[in-house]
Amino acid sequence: MTERHGHYIDGSWREPSGGEYFASRNPATLETLYEAARGDRADIDAAVDAARRAFDRPSWRALSATKRGKLLRRLGDLVAEHAEELARLESLDNGKLLREMRGQLHSLPEYLYYYGGLADKIEGAQIPTSSIEMLNYTQREPLGVVGAITPWNSPLTLTTAKLAPALAAGNTVVIKPSEHTSYTILRFAQLAAEAGFPDGVINVVTGFGPEAGAALVDHPDIAKISFTGSTRTGSAIAASAAARFIGCTLELGGKSPNIVFDDANIANAAMGVVAGIYAAAGQTCIAGSRVFAHRSVYDELLERVADRARSIVIGDPLQDATELGPLAFGDQLEKVESYVHLGVDEGATLHAGGGRPQVDLPGYFFEPTVLTDVTNDMRVVREEIFGPVAAIMPFDTEDEVVALANDTEFGLAAGVWTQNLSRAHRMARRLDAGTIWINTYRAMSPMSPRQGFKNSGVGIEHGIESMHEYTRLKSVWVNTDEAPVADPFVLRS
Ligand code: NAI
Ligand code: MG
Repeated sequence: MTERHGHYIDGSWREPSGGEYFASRNPATLETLYEAARGDRADIDAAVDAARRAFDRPSWRALSATKRGKLLRRLGDLVAEHAEELARLESLDNGKLLREMRGQLHSLPEYLYYYGGLADKIEGAQIPTSSIEMLNYTQREPLGVVGAITPWNSPLTLTTAKLAPALAAGNTVVIKPSEHTSYTILRFAQLAAEAGFPDGVINVVTGFGPEAGAALVDHPDIAKISFTGSTRTGSAIAASAAARFIGCTLELGGKSPNIVFDDANIANAAMGVVAGIYAAAGQTCIAGSRVFAHRSVYDELLERVADRARSIVIGDPLQDATELGPLAFGDQLEKVESYVHLGVDEGATLHAGGGRPQVDLPGYFFEPTVLTDVTNDMRVVREEIFGPVAAIMPFDTEDEVVALANDTEFGLAAGVWTQNLSRAHRMARRLDAGTIWINTYRAMSPMSPRQGFKNSGVGIEHGIESMHEYTRLKSVWVNTDEAPVADPFVLRS
């Protein structure tokens, strides 16, 4: 019988209130991997209630920040000990290369160590106001119950990027993982219990967006929503949060430019383009899906990228030799495929790939694809495809490419390939994106803050800034003067 998992609420496994489960498949083999509980409003109510009570209990609220940090570091150690198991589970669930998952699991404990170390460095300030009798200081407090809604493309990493700072700051959390990838998040919650986090501090309700997800967003006891996913869902969440005056951190879509100048190391740039769009089968928010190559190097770059695209080893993500696994689920394959057809209808040329490859597995595989004869106004160049599809375009001048690169609703990331130091920094200044990579692509660290500009997001993830997003700032005024109040009818300062 298929393995079944309940919700993880208040330190124990719970049957879904509606009694229903749903299947998650392995996208390479199409086998059902496990069934997860189909969460609804009643399950969310139970989880938020548990998180609220845990927040108020002395076992969490009165725990010193140093001890909170130790719990996070212990969880980091446990994640490191279970790295291979977690990497394999996530690869089975979403089709990411096991190699890539091993790399992610290698860096995942770093998030927990980093925020564990920061937990007791959340400091306020003493403010010199205009009166020396008045002592004014600030303190940062946790918000309460944080709702985290996360996607399927890198479930553990993207969830930990929210959880670690939220917990370090003293909040409790309810996580609604993607319906396509529940398993590793449930396993993670179990490891957190093993690390010693009190019951109710971390809760997981599995299920679908419009059901469990929407119920979490709407819950009156949620103090903040932290979301990673599509721009469309993010916009609905932001509207709901605004109506209740709660904050939200949103990490949304992208259509990032990867720009190759004529003075670049073209071999490295070509590999950067390949990494930007074919790693993880292009299912990353930071995918470098719009490639701009200076006209004098356009042909060379195109041929290098297309040659590599055609030779990419497609197949079982568990095999070491595989370079491209399947897309994560059937709708995603259909979406990518229909965008490629749309591109051709819009006048694009299929320079490489464009279809389903021959693979001896039945899963959702799609060829690494290069589109040429594309322009910035085509839908395939404007909308997020979230698959292994690069649009490669020539440009003539720096001003022109800056205008083209910035002519998008998104602003998540941008890559620049040049050997010219002045140009590199000038481009970093001129590009309208929260992360700029010079002569590299897809570099990331828990220590380095990242923010989506424009429709790519709201708020900051990673770094000290991210932890501040899970706090509220209080200003405390203390009158140290015991003399009688002179005039009660004027404002004090
Ligand atoms: P999605 O944004 O709908 O799903 C992300 C998470 O939000 C999941 O946990 C989902 O259950 C939840 N959700 C969905 N509707 C919700 C609602 N009304 N209220 C609360 N939670 C809700 O994205 P989906 O359907 O997984 O993928 C569709 C497209 O979104 C992809 O093809 C891709 O273009 C984009 N996407 C972008 C990501 C990124 O990192 N930028 C990540 C995942 C998807
Ligand atoms: Mg799955």
